[in-house]
Amino acid sequence: MSQLSLAVELAGLGLRNPTMNAAGVLGMSSYQLKRLYESGAGAVVTKSLGRQPRNGHPNPTIVFVEGGVINSMGLPNPSAEYFRDEIKRLKAENIPVVASFFAASIEDFTYLASILTDAGADALEINCSCPNVGREKCMLEADRESLEKVTKAVREASSLPVFVKLTPNVANIVEGAKIAEENGADGITAVNTLKALAVDIDLRKPILSNIIGGLSGPALKPVALRCVWELFENIEIPIIGCGGVSYWRDAVEFLLCGASAIQIGTALMDHGVELFKEVNEGIRRYLEENGFRGVKDIVGLAHET
Ligand code: SIN
Repeated sequence: MSQLSLAVELAGLGLRNPTMNAAGVLGMSSYQLKRLYESGAGAVVTKSLGRQPRNGHPNPTIVFVEGGVINSMGLPNPSAEYFRDEIKRLKAENIPVVASFFAASIEDFTYLASILTDAGADALEINCSCPNVGREKCMLEADRESLEKVTKAVREASSLPVFVKLTPNVANIVEGAKIAEENGADGITAVNTLKALAVDIDLRKPILSNIIGGLSGPALKPVALRCVWELFENIEIPIIGCGGVSYWRDAVEFLLCGASAIQIGTALMDHGVELFKEVNEGIRRYLEENGFRGVKDIVGLAHET
């Protein structure tokens, strides 16, 4: 019998396989998240939660473009307070939960980190990289001082593994990752969406109500892979790759570039939740056919020239 295992460990968080959903995709209720886990995800990630409920931006908030999707949802969510019970429901079934959250002040970040920890989440993912809201709604990592303070505050407020989700919309992603690492982050999620715009030529206007949104899907993948590559060469903490994973081969590319786990977002819309099974089976086949014993064996392997 094969000794091969897909299990991974991320800063103390043990997962049966390296796949998760990306925050915001099918993460608005315990029902949706449970379905993702039952379909094969190694862990589930909540929609980014804030202190107050938010409706987000008015429609249109999403547009399909060549190579992906541009969204400008505006962080709609039912609030972390509301989601406490949803997390408890998931934990009652032993489902590993990563709670994604955002805030506009250090005080709110601290508050949210403690209530999500008390609710039973297994890890926290700081979202300070949403391209769709301004500084007054969400502290953004592009402001390096904020990133330092936010990471430190969350680190102090919780004993859980803390992941920081970074934006690709910066000249140097390593700078932000190093600040997060130095201030206590246990992992980096790379990346959030890439700032983008779509135009309706008949209306002669941008399509999204917020004008600018974030591009995800296959077109984002090469950018995300480049970010993971650069991070792997410059930081010690684990990287969770995110951006354009649609097939198992994409997941393997992220692992080879240095990701220890991957998140799947946009592709769940096209391929459905069964994608988790396909991706995990594909990774398993790849490992078996190439004589590897586990996921860890191939993390960052493309750097060994
Ligand atoms: C949104 O709700 O606008 C998307 C979330 C994100 O990009 O972080």
